[in-house]
Amino acid sequence: MTTVLAVRELHGGYGETDILHGLTLEVAAGEIVTIAGTNGSGKSTLLKAIVGLLPRVRGSVLLEGRDISGLQAEARVEAGLACVPQVANVFRSLTVEENLRVAGRRVDPARIVQMLDLFGALKPRLRQLAGTLSGGERQQLAFARALMAAPRLIVLDEPTAALAPALVQQIFDLVATLPAQQVSVLMVEQRARQALAISQRGYILDQGRIVLSGPAASLLDDARMTELYLGTHHNT
Ligand SMILES: Nc1ncnc2c1ncn2[C@@H]1O[C@H](COP(=O)(O)OP(=O)(O)O)[C@@H](O)[C@H]1O
Ligand SMILES: [Mg+2]
Repeated sequence: MTTVLAVRELHGGYGETDILHGLTLEVAAGEIVTIAGTNGSGKSTLLKAIVGLLPRVRGSVLLEGRDISGLQAEARVEAGLACVPQVANVFRSLTVEENLRVAGRRVDPARIVQMLDLFGALKPRLRQLAGTLSGGERQQLAFARALMAAPRLIVLDEPTAALAPALVQQIFDLVATLPAQQVSVLMVEQRARQALAISQRGYILDQGRIVLSGPAASLLDDARMTELYLGTHHNT
């Protein structure tokens, strides 16, 4: 199977102390991979390191075999790595259409049409300011923005965190459609059960280390998971 993302021995953090302590993981073509773990275990920091937004990183990040560790975040997007951060993932003072137009350097109008077909809720709202969208609509716009550049891999940081419970499954359903569009997924989620249910594999982080990993189905069955990391989130 082709490896889309390979992360090798990643160390790093913000100040002098490391938050990440030698993380190694992979995403294969067509896979959805979930990263779960308690609050503060380093999930967002790991994603920042992968997309090039962590100030101090050691180790390597390969996208389709190409070492992108030395690239700035923007160049990583060009290389095929898209990202939907947990907050501030759309320009609230721009319209939906403007958000899509500024999403990439090479904006193909046909791609906007494609995105609107995929994210139906956005279609009647092209001229609406992104700041006035509902949480679910805004998350759809954030996804559409990230997909504008036709990435090979999309990195999602808690895509359902800010959503009303009724919309959560809708977003997971949307994530589940991405591999069919040749987009592999690396997703951090608090709702680990629901996320693993649409994933092939998962990694569990604790204090900047991977403490459990494997096929999603076996993680869901693992007693250690249930006890330590899946918790009793009200929506899982
Ligand atoms: N910008 C930052 N500056 C300094 N420390 C940070 C910053 N962001 C996160 N941290 C610290 O890094 C650790 C991991 O945080 P984070 O990666 O956000 O965890 P998670 O996403 O798993 O909840 C925490 O101890 C947190 O306080
Ligand atoms: Mg986080």
